[in-house]
Amino acid sequence: MFAKPTTNGPVTNTKLPGYMISRGYQRPKAHISDREIYFRTSLQNTILDVLKSRPGWQEAPSETEWDFFWCDREWLHQNYDTTFLQENQKILHFRNYYELTRKNLMVKNIKRLKRQTEREFGKLEGQSFDFYPTTYELPSEYHIFVEEFKKNPGIIWIMKPAAKSQGHGIFLFRKLKDITNWKKGDYQPLADQTKEAPELYVVQRYISNPYLIGGRKFDLRVYVLVVSYNPLKAWLYREGFARFSNSKFSLDSIEDAYIHLTNVAVQKTAPDYDPEKGCKWSLQRLRNYLIAKHGIEVVQKTYKDIDNIIIRSLQSVQKTIINDKHCFEMYGFDVILDSNLKPWLIEINASPSLTASGKEDYILKCGLLNDVLNVLDLEHKLTGNEKRVGGWDLMWDDGPVLNDDQLDSQQSILTLPTPNTFLGLFISSHICWSLLEVAK
Ligand SMILES: Nc1ncnc2c1ncn2[C@@H]1O[C@H](COP(=O)(O)OP(=O)(O)O)[C@@H](O)[C@H]1O
Ligand SMILES: [Mg+2]
Repeated sequence: MFAKPTTNGPVTNTKLPGYMISRGYQRPKAHISDREIYFRTSLQNTILDVLKSRPGWQEAPSETEWDFFWCDREWLHQNYDTTFLQENQKILHFRNYYELTRKNLMVKNIKRLKRQTEREFGKLEGQSFDFYPTTYELPSEYHIFVEEFKKNPGIIWIMKPAAKSQGHGIFLFRKLKDITNWKKGDYQPLADQTKEAPELYVVQRYISNPYLIGGRKFDLRVYVLVVSYNPLKAWLYREGFARFSNSKFSLDSIEDAYIHLTNVAVQKTAPDYDPEKGCKWSLQRLRNYLIAKHGIEVVQKTYKDIDNIIIRSLQSVQKTIINDKHCFEMYGFDVILDSNLKPWLIEINASPSLTASGKEDYILKCGLLNDVLNVLDLEHKLTGNEKRVGGWDLMWDDGPVLNDDQLDSQQSILTLPTPNTFLGLFISSHICWSLLEVAK
């Protein structure tokens, strides 16, 4: 199913390799008839700080004169179809980005590719899609859900609105009668055709054995940048964070959001939340912790499975997303590890929060966004052959990208090349550079 591996050719001598760009950034010559690069943004947080402090960039003089637009989804819905994009313009979001980010559509698309894979390559290959908890869309699949529910007495389910975020509208339940009230409200099938359709939900098996650290549950926020769907070209960011819940995990009080939902938006409202300490660990800290506890091999398997989750999910919408060379997407994947260190895909966000919850978070997000701009390369500083740009590693380029650095050294000539992904491995000097640039 995976296409042939590609190992991009050597970087030419005429330009710096990508990772040098990120650290030794020089004021670029604007490519657009020697003027500054014009940006627009719908958000006023870290992305604005990054854009403002980027050498050679300035705010667009008018609403239409921009080269780069970090737009919000509302703008996209209202304007994309009627806007003619010039050759060099870059804009956040693909036209139908929601195919992967609405919880019901994500599962539908993954299920479809799984079926197709099973038909073409057999059941075993289809198992590589078993990375999301059993999920049904409501109300359309209510009856199938009830059958499944009855087959698994006693397990816990989680109900989530398909298109909301930050933990809004989510609840856990054990018994069908627990959802009676909910059924009477939002879900009620409509007799009156003139009324708006009922809100869509997903009901999903709750991961009741999460991996715990200090007795607390957490999920991983992993950043993925897609610069093209056809062919698929995707980058994985090395850094990210684990978001912990504030209260110790227990299945006794399933109604307690501070135990079961790891969203920062939820956790920061906890009465005993400490804004100084926050509720995050860097992915680097998490990786080191897991390796110390379980050894590198076990942890490598987990990270390989996370790579698989990312690629399979992107492939599931590859033919559905309307590809456009002007568009790019920066996703935030939510992943939970269970007590066996198996990663589960919870959801994918097309607008992951860019608001910083503390100083470290600010540094991380500024570095992340600066590196997005470096990959997009409006300044034309890259060769196009880079496999690493700052904290971004090219993970898929119409096929898996391999880390062939080791092939350069004679002693490891017999070692099989490994994927070019390094989640949780980070170079601190890179972060410092980003902060310095932004702090200027
Ligand atoms: N199936 C699940 N099993 C365990 N925890 C879950 C599950 N689904 C969601 N959660 C928890 O609830 C949080 C919010 O769910 P999510 O699907 O990400 O919705 P939202 O869009 O509101 O963030 C997750 O970050 C996770 O902590
Ligand atoms: Mg989420």
